[in-house]
Amino acid sequence: MVLRRFCICGCYYTHNLFIKEYEMHVKFVDREQFLSDYKKILLSKSCYKPESLIPQLEEECERRRHAEAHSIRQRNCVLEQYTPRHPHLYTLQESFLDSQFLEVVRAAKQPDQTSEGLTCLLQDHRQRVFSFPVFTKEFCKMFVEELTHYEEAPLQKGRPNTMNQYGIKLDELGFTDFVSSLQKEYLSPITRLLFPDWGGGSLDSHKAFVVTYKEGEDVDLSYHYDNAEVTLNVALNEDYSNGELYFGPMRSEQSSHRTGYAHQLGRGLLHRGQQFHGALPIMSGIRHNLIIWMRSSEVRNKLCPMCDQTPKLVPVKEGFGDGFIQLEEDACFLS
Ligand SMILES: [Fe+2]
Ligand SMILES: [Zn+2]
Repeated sequence: MVLRRFCICGCYYTHNLFIKEYEMHVKFVDREQFLSDYKKILLSKSCYKPESLIPQLEEECERRRHAEAHSIRQRNCVLEQYTPRHPHLYTLQESFLDSQFLEVVRAAKQPDQTSEGLTCLLQDHRQRVFSFPVFTKEFCKMFVEELTHYEEAPLQKGRPNTMNQYGIKLDELGFTDFVSSLQKEYLSPITRLLFPDWGGGSLDSHKAFVVTYKEGEDVDLSYHYDNAEVTLNVALNEDYSNGELYFGPMRSEQSSHRTGYAHQLGRGLLHRGQQFHGALPIMSGIRHNLIIWMRSSEVRNKLCPMCDQTPKLVPVKEGFGDGFIQLEEDACFLS
């Protein structure tokens, strides 16, 4: 029997470390490599002491080396010590979903449906960016209450990804099955039609988190692309100002054209993960958005989007890793 084991790519430990002050992603193996690769470019950005950045890069590498163990501990802590405010939210129910979304999903599941037919039911923001209502307002309200309740609980929390300091990893909180059902039953029929060239028909894992933007913490998000084939971004509240998203070209293309998008409560935006995008600063209030990075092992096993190489597969003990898969003979069935 062949087992599918989820993996990360070995580049996780060295590539794409984000330096917020200079809005740069860098590779860090050691001091010599870093200074030889980036000294010039950092000087051009008026960073006259590039070596002063090394401690924070070393710290980030150290955090990444322990990230998986930390995440497992964190999940166990939540299971043992956290009492949810709204326990029923943890299992996806159709009543959480907007009726217009259910209609789109029904249309997407028609055997003879085409991408053109489906896009008529969505808002088309061009550049293959689409939006549609996902959750009801009532669900968003309760979900934000649950997240706030968790934020206030006296537990240590992991950060959502390398660029967002503030927010919640939904796997740690216990929403893995919720997101899997949302992806499998509702989103995959849509992505299969809209993004067949980006694994939209073979999505088999995800990483989901809620990002929070607030004055005095993260207020914006630098221009970047996601470690995902397809991304869903849903606005969970509306009591803030500004904070629009903007989209540029795919990372393999060059263009200075930008398209803007203003969030609406409960509405989700679907885009290709490797399309450049960023978020403008919010001017007041707090913004919470649910982000689901959807992944296809069929696509990413060929090329890791973070190092542009055939991935160096490192199996994980629990969860989906970064969505890569290693096939292994199950030792129990050998002999
Ligand atoms: Fe993103
Ligand atoms: Zn890689």
